[in-house]
Amino acid sequence: MTINYLELEETYALGVYAKKELVLVKGRNARIWDKDGNEYIDCVSGNGVANLGHANEKIAQAVSEQAARLITCSNMFYNDQRALLLEKLIQITPANLNKTFLCSSGTESIEGAIKFAKVTTQKTEFVCAEKAFHGRTTGSLSATFKPEYKKGFEPLLPGFGFVPFNDFDSLKELVNQNTAGIILEVIQGEGGINIGNADYFQKVRQLCDEKGVILIIDEIQSGFCRTGKMFACYHFDLEPDILCVAKAIAGGLPMGAVVCSNKIDVPAGKHGTTFGGNPLCCAAANAAIDFMIENKLAEQAQEKGEYFTEKLKKNPLRKIQEIRGLGLMIGIELKGPAAPLISMLLEKGVLVFPAGANVIRVLPPLTITYEDLDFVIEKLVEVLN
Ligand SMILES: Cc1ncc(COP(=O)(O)O)c(C=O)c1O
Repeated sequence: MTINYLELEETYALGVYAKKELVLVKGRNARIWDKDGNEYIDCVSGNGVANLGHANEKIAQAVSEQAARLITCSNMFYNDQRALLLEKLIQITPANLNKTFLCSSGTESIEGAIKFAKVTTQKTEFVCAEKAFHGRTTGSLSATFKPEYKKGFEPLLPGFGFVPFNDFDSLKELVNQNTAGIILEVIQGEGGINIGNADYFQKVRQLCDEKGVILIIDEIQSGFCRTGKMFACYHFDLEPDILCVAKAIAGGLPMGAVVCSNKIDVPAGKHGTTFGGNPLCCAAANAAIDFMIENKLAEQAQEKGEYFTEKLKKNPLRKIQEIRGLGLMIGIELKGPAAPLISMLLEKGVLVFPAGANVIRVLPPLTITYEDLDFVIEKLVEVLN
């Protein structure tokens, strides 16, 4: 009897996702296969998670060895893999960051940052950017801009204000004596692949220093080599007080981290989690970060991003407004809606996803081959002209 997996999900999953009719069962680097054996080039990467490619052997080995050794370990005790990961994270993040809280997702990382900023400053308000996306739980949803995501869930947390991204004067106006933190992405992902500018970030950093406001930078999507640096804040010499990371951190396993400077002070017992920092995900993250460094994934992302964008731009692309991005975090802004073109690309064997209504988001594994990149470019040219 053949099992209809699509129907099972349709029947038994809460219907919160708009789905494509595709049952994906196997991956290898940037290629992914459906249950019937059809092959696709994956530029979704599990929503920007699979930076190291699918079925990466180093991750598979680390996970299987750790699964056979110790999967779970209460945060009441110490653990070898956790200790190694905590040290590694401090080595690769900006120099002013020196302590980390481990969790299991991006949204949890933002929740942690909000709580830590509040308890540190004893203040309650936050300034966020228009078009920002920080997650779906109540705190991070409060920091997320899109009204459709919030509708039906109000009241959310009070005290979250929004100003246009890259507009320092508006941001400065909203900061007051109750402001605990400013929360910003370096490159807005979901909001349309909008890149922050260096001058803006330097001014925001200075303002935070002057006013005693905690600068929270969300690199959940842009982190771990995606933009051509280990973290996108290195493009701008930006030192946050709190760096939120997740997605690619553990080679595909669920993990997040709140990496803090010594300004952040959270008393014992004020925060915690069951799954955060479990040995299985920590072993995966240790293997993932080693792989990123050994294989120079940041340089790879930089070079492949330039190759992709330059080659794509050489073609006549009638439907394009703008191509922008850093490394392999690329947005193709269209003159019309993205959804129909995304469906056409799927039929041609390329998986991409939207970032807002009229931007195609291209986030392939950073290990993607040039041959596969060429295939993606070829199919994009077909649908964009
Ligand atoms: C910038 C950013 N912040 C936060 C999140 C939330 O992460 P998660 O889906 O792991 O909760 C995302 C997810 O897409 C994101 O892109």
